[in-house]
Amino acid sequence: MSKMVSNNLLADFTSFSNHHRQLIDQYLEHMLPSPQGAQHRLREAMRYSVLNGGKRVRPLLVFATIEALGFNTELGLAPAAAVELIHSYSLVHDDLPAMDDDDLRRGKPTCHIAYDEATAILVGDALQALAFQHIAGATDIPTDHRIAMINELATSSSDTGMVGGQAIDLAAVGQTLTLDELEQMHLNKTGAIIEASVVLGAMSCQMSDATLIKHLRTFSQAIGLAFQVRDDIIDIESDTHELGKTQGKDAANNKPTYTSLLGIDGAKAKATQLFETAQESLERLDLQGSRLEQLASFIVERTY
Ligand code: IPE
Ligand code: IPE
Ligand code: MG
Ligand code: MG
Ligand code: MG
Repeated sequence: MSKMVSNNLLADFTSFSNHHRQLIDQYLEHMLPSPQGAQHRLREAMRYSVLNGGKRVRPLLVFATIEALGFNTELGLAPAAAVELIHSYSLVHDDLPAMDDDDLRRGKPTCHIAYDEATAILVGDALQALAFQHIAGATDIPTDHRIAMINELATSSSDTGMVGGQAIDLAAVGQTLTLDELEQMHLNKTGAIIEASVVLGAMSCQMSDATLIKHLRTFSQAIGLAFQVRDDIIDIESDTHELGKTQGKDAANNKPTYTSLLGIDGAKAKATQLFETAQESLERLDLQGSRLEQLASFIVERTY
């Protein structure tokens, strides 16, 4: 990160991230159902799958967008929680034997290992429902903005977004995709929720100006793709302890990735190029040097 962001800014970004990670962790802790009643095991597994030390990049994108636009970041708590719930659900399902068959997530046994497969399926279902229920119930947000948020999040999670990308990912195992096909897969499976996080941040400030949203979409599509390019790189370069998930799984599962198609250096060059595209969008919005740029820099340089 030092190449892209000076030391002062880095310290400032670190305290922004730590503060907002703590904020969203406390918020999630309160809003998740307590493990009681006849569904206590399901509820315990929901908490296990969310309150387990994720990086919280998507909530941070909601907060960073709000800060870049000059508003109070606490305006974004409900949508930030919703995007993290959708993301956590997608990870629980992604790890199932029918998908990537992983047994380690965020440094702990995956949900279906710690509990069982049926519980993991239900955890994903319940977290997804809770995400939408939570935005719908956030009555301090004007109704039209709430509906727009629900629509944005639903579209990003749908067959045209994350779930569609996961379907392409599974169908592509063992295949050689073209660069365009790979890009489409990554934009859907990972980019869509990242784009929604940024757009939900703008909506939290009741901003709906078409030009602003257009440039924010270009920005977030670039960093959404960069996020997955980096995920492919660190699957090779980092170790299991640092990642909190099993290193080398993409090759073991015969997944098409940026590194398999372009090599490590090609994938890194692609991430840098995407960061520059993201920066150009921010310049158009006069948001260069903002929290969003710092977060984009973290995304393309991260090692976990
Ligand atoms: C991992 O996401 C899955 C991808 C979409 C690449 P993160 O790297 O954000 O995982 P957590 O939330 O920090 O565990
Ligand atoms: C996961 O992509 C994308 C979603 C969960 C939607 P990966 O399968 O590459 O994520 P990891 O590497 O298991 O975290
Ligand atoms: Mg996967
Ligand atoms: Mg996976
Ligand atoms: Mg991966």
